Amino acid sequence: MQVIKTIREIREAVYTARQAGKTVALVPTMGALHEGHGHLIERARRESETVVVSIFVNPLQFGPGEDYGRYPRTLDSDLDFCQSLDVDLIFCPDPPELYPQGQKTFVEVDEIPRELCGRSRPGHFRGVATVVLKLLNIVQPDRAYFGEKDAQQLRVIEQMTADLNVPVEIVAVPTVREPDGLAISSRNRYLSPDQRQSATVLYRALNAAHQALCAGERESVKVLAASQAVLDQDPIVRKEYLEVVDAGSMSPVTTVNGPVRIAGAVWIEKTRLIDNLYWKGE
Ligand code: PAJ
Repeated sequence: MQVIKTIREIREAVYTARQAGKTVALVPTMGALHEGHGHLIERARRESETVVVSIFVNPLQFGPGEDYGRYPRTLDSDLDFCQSLDVDLIFCPDPPELYPQGQKTFVEVDEIPRELCGRSRPGHFRGVATVVLKLLNIVQPDRAYFGEKDAQQLRVIEQMTADLNVPVEIVAVPTVREPDGLAISSRNRYLSPDQRQSATVLYRALNAAHQALCAGERESVKVLAASQAVLDQDPIVRKEYLEVVDAGSMSPVTTVNGPVRIAGAVWIEKTRLIDNLYWKGE
């Protein structure tokens, strides 16, 4: 496994792999790697001959007052983890390598970022789309892997690569959960043991909505009432949003008549957690 910090060297390493006729996969991450990332990497390993993992805490996608400064940075253990999963190349640039004289060009996807996380984190998806396009341009992979846990992010990237004719296949990987249902996240490590117990309430709330859909309920207000009742059971959990959204546009629907996602974000003191469940419709 080669650990590379510069654009020039990662381009050279990918070029060498390409010259040898190998297909290339990219798994973009911000490090603090866990089993969720592990599933993306394993899938990439099965499907491509050269696996590149990028590790970069992207300042552009954090708003003022968000957790950029305290986001966990665990490069040594991340490298061990990647080694154990047989990753070929790690690209872990320092911020000035990707943003040498600031950045004056940004990727703005329309509609999809309007609600959910985009509403409470203005500029977040612009920062995500911009860094992902830069990474895709630098590595030029055949495939890039993203988790359904961040479903709105996944849609932003699918839309961006389609609209801008980026020659890459975007692969969506299902959400990896702890045994009690909590979606695995780098931010889970902010939680105290008590908070960690409370955190499962988000998954249980989304499940209640999913069950309401399975039982035939089609009015979003009623589907969400089932979720809210579960969230109300735990007073330390504060709701940011809970919505039933169209799975393509990520816009809220009043009546469910096609594929949707039930998406939620909650705060447990200073920790923000998100999760979602897919409902394919009939
Ligand atoms: P990060 O939060 O590190 O996540 C990297 C990738 O892992 C994302 O595609 C995310 O959806 C996926 N992932 C995280 N937890 C997961 C889980 N429990 N199950 C399945 N997939 C999971 O998302 C980002 O970084 C950044 O925004 C990035 C795309 C790297 C751009 O900076």
